[in-house]
Amino acid sequence: MAPHTEQLTRPTVRLRDLTRSFDGRTVLDGIDLNLPAGQFTALLGHSGSGKSTLLRAIAGLDHEVVGSGHLTAPERVSVVFQDSRLLPWRRVLDNVLLGTEGREAAERGRAALAEVGLAGRERAWPNELSGGEAQRAALARSLVREPELLLADEPFGALDALTRIKMHGLLRELWKRHRPTVLLVTHDVDEAIVLADRVLVLDQGRIGLDLTIDRPHPRSYRDPLLGEYRERLLAALGVTEDHQ
Ligand SMILES: Nc1ncnc2c1ncn2[C@@H]1O[C@H](COP(=O)(O)OP(=O)(O)OP(=O)(O)O)[C@@H](O)[C@H]1O
Ligand SMILES: [Mg+2]
Repeated sequence: MAPHTEQLTRPTVRLRDLTRSFDGRTVLDGIDLNLPAGQFTALLGHSGSGKSTLLRAIAGLDHEVVGSGHLTAPERVSVVFQDSRLLPWRRVLDNVLLGTEGREAAERGRAALAEVGLAGRERAWPNELSGGEAQRAALARSLVREPELLLADEPFGALDALTRIKMHGLLRELWKRHRPTVLLVTHDVDEAIVLADRVLVLDQGRIGLDLTIDRPHPRSYRDPLLGEYRERLLAALGVTEDHQ
């Protein structure tokens, strides 16, 4: 993807009064949100607070759902989930290329695999990959579409702590190179503040906190200023240090 030069002020995603409900229960209760082009945003919230519902709405994956409001999102969207969702009967490169055509796409697929450190594994079967490798293949598959918007729903949730930290570095690196708008759903406050430039907390169907993380990258968990952000986010999530 060619790095684009749009200003951060042009929203790629625009939500106005977005509501979603299930069985008469309101999950998203009038969300207003702009995601400027190229911004890296993380979305936190308790289990069941509606993070995946919001992400699916933006991805256009919620046709059956009851809701209202106005939503604009770009056409080229990629979604990464907690499990890699690689098709077990297709080799890694074929998984990455799924839905694309032509020789040029195949080249982009190889390049994307190389970018995530999987050069040479093109002909492997998904069950020959570790969990972290499978997630890297899923990232390569999302990149090959040159997305304007990358939606990720707890993409590192199933990985061990060490692999997770490596994946953080990789995701940030890929973002820097391609500059898609990113919305990363996570449970992990530290993951959010180390990776994202803006962190949202979803609470009672609304954005309860919208925090800009104004610290340079790469960030260290030991940065005392990150500690302040962490406390504000934990407070917004209703977690006090005593209860941890
Ligand atoms: N297809 C569905 N049918 C009925 N209820 C649903 C459906 N999808 C989500 N819900 C309900 O909506 C609420 C929000 O779900 P959602 O999956 O968005 O939460 P989440 O914040 O992503 O949670 P988690 O952190 O556990 O992934 C939950 O109470 C859930 O039961
Ligand atoms: Mg979820």
